[in-house]
Order: sequence, then structure tokens, then C-alpha cells
Amino acid sequence: MSRLVEELKVDHSHIKQVLRRAKDCTLTTSERFEVFIAAKVALQNHLDRENRELYPVLRHAAQSDPESHSTLETFAKDMEQIASQVTWFFSKYPSLETVNPKIEADLNYAVELARDLETLTTFLGVRLGREEHSLYPVYDRVAEKGTRLAIELQVQDIGGRLIHIPIE
Ligand SMILES: [Fe+2]
Repeated sequence: MSRLVEELKVDHSHIKQVLRRAKDCTLTTSERFEVFIAAKVALQNHLDRENRELYPVLRHAAQSDPESHSTLETFAKDMEQIASQVTWFFSKYPSLETVNPKIEADLNYAVELARDLETLTTFLGVRLGREEHSLYPVYDRVAEKGTRLAIELQVQDIGGRLIHIPIE
């Protein structure tokens, strides 16, 4: 497994832990909302890193590899859906300050928020699982192929002539 995937999986387990807390029924709705805001920050940092380090490599590979191409397309569509869900959620529940008084005043509002939170955290949890199961292995395969090519090129440079070393 590549170092990048290893580190992204560590991010995932941290985010999943926070998402689990956001579903914890022993917390008040207000506390759960606050926890979810923390998850959003962690998630944004994680997405920034994926956009910087993971997707450019996958996009490059997708130009010549149909399997990477279709996996990438599927995940890009999923991501659009998730981004619009998150945007919708925060336009409905913009901040702790605006949400808290309504939670206190209206039980129906609190239940609705808890239900929306539950749906969104499940959505995000499923996405993280799918990345680990389907997207990251594609990156590892591409990264490994890149390393093999680099090793072969390096051997050619040092020797000054073509030395073919079978690396499987
Ligand atoms: Fe991720």
C-alpha cells in the first residue's frame, strides 16, 4: 500500500470516528450538530489533500487506462452528489448560533435536524468506505506501475546501456 493511501485511510478513520459521534443519541442534538461541524473541517482538509495528491495521478492514468477512467467518473459523480448534499445541509442549518435557539424552541425542528444529520453522516460514511474499497486500490496500482517504470529508467541511466531487469 502506498504511503499516501495509508495516510488517507488514517484521515478516514478519524473522520468516521467523528461521524459516529455525530450519530450518538446520548448527545443532545445541539452537541451532535457541533460535532458534525468538526467533521466538516476534517473532511474539507482531507478532500483538499485528495484533490492535490490523489486525483491528479488518477486523472493522468485515466487517459490511457479505461478501468481507471470509469472508476474515476463514478467517483466524480458521487462527489458532486455529496457536495450538493453538504451544501443543502448547511444552507438549511447554517451555524450553531442560528440552529441552537430553534432546537430549544421546537421539538420537531430538533428531530428534523437529527434525521438530516443521520442521513448525511451515513452518506459520507458510505462514500469513505467506497473510496477505500474501490478508488484507493486504483491509485495503488497506478503508483506501483509508476515506481516500476522509474526504477527501470534509473537502471538505464546508470549503466549507460539498456539493462532489462524484470520487475513483477
Ligand atoms: Fe477520502
